[in-house]
Amino acid sequence: MESSASIVVVESDRMSQRKKSVIEILRENPGFVSGQSISDSLGISRNAVHKHVNSLRARGYRILGISRRGYRLEEEPRRLAMPAVAKLTQGCVLATCFRYHAEIESTNTEARRLATQGAPEGTVIVAESQLAGRGRLGRTWTSPAGKGLLFSVVLRPDLPMADAHMLTLAVGNAIAEAIEGQVKVPVHLKWPNDLVVANKKVGGILLEVSGEHDRVEWVVAGVGINVNVEFAELPVSLRKTATSLLMAGERTVDRSALLARALLCLEKSYVDCLANGFNRQLRQFRERDYLLHRSVSVQTREGPVVGEAAGIDDRGALLVELPDRHIRRFHSGDVTLHQ
Ligand code: BTN
Repeated sequence: MESSASIVVVESDRMSQRKKSVIEILRENPGFVSGQSISDSLGISRNAVHKHVNSLRARGYRILGISRRGYRLEEEPRRLAMPAVAKLTQGCVLATCFRYHAEIESTNTEARRLATQGAPEGTVIVAESQLAGRGRLGRTWTSPAGKGLLFSVVLRPDLPMADAHMLTLAVGNAIAEAIEGQVKVPVHLKWPNDLVVANKKVGGILLEVSGEHDRVEWVVAGVGINVNVEFAELPVSLRKTATSLLMAGERTVDRSALLARALLCLEKSYVDCLANGFNRQLRQFRERDYLLHRSVSVQTREGPVVGEAAGIDDRGALLVELPDRHIRRFHSGDVTLHQ
């Protein structure tokens, strides 16, 4: 019999009553509403209205502001259709329980907290926006509300700790396959965890592991994808190196369908790893290897190491051929293309 996942909508939309009132006023008045009339209705200063509008914009509300005319609500943030996601993933062992947040610090942080408290495998934390999204190497992950796909899955694989990092390959392959199924753009994987489309980063994976006595207790697989993010919404500092599926495919992507597909592909890769080991995942990663034969620079404690990327070994380590023809292995690190 097929199981149906539970969906918990976690009331973490910490929108203040004032912001809700600003939105209600804008909804009731489809034209422009002056800042003064909002401030009069709510008994707050014009400056406070301006601050609320900016914070609503950060939550995905598109509000046009024109001086001497006021504000107009152009678009409300789109929400993921969780019942549809649950239906599409019925029976999927990696989608046993969905916890949906309009806003959260970080889905990975929340998944870690729940995993530590015993959350079962297949607990999926999804959010429309994160206040403190985390990337690898202590970096942050930002995404405009309602435009990206931000989720983390709790896994409980029966693996030794030394093998846990190999799941990064499985997650990368699965998400790449899901994107290609949905958007028809080729996806490459930049070691160890970046999803690349048209030579730019479209998403990333953050795998966090806990274990004892050399057995994995839990793994949290966090995935962030720039889905319907427009060029102007990318931080200026990332505009040369990042992209979105909307930008690459030139059409809006159904985030709910993509989430469902991602979980189904993830289940397939994960089950394969546990049953058959990592050979298939290694092969698939090698087919998508973005760095292969490119000149790269690997940041190490001793400084940058420059060479030509020569694939990955059977433990998932990056191989780099140095100018003296020696091959050096990297088990972790930050890699950039070398000009
Ligand atoms: C990276 O590229 O360094 C990895 C980025 C991973 C971001 C995702 S967004 C959902 C999940 N929650 C987080 O805080 N991080 C991951």
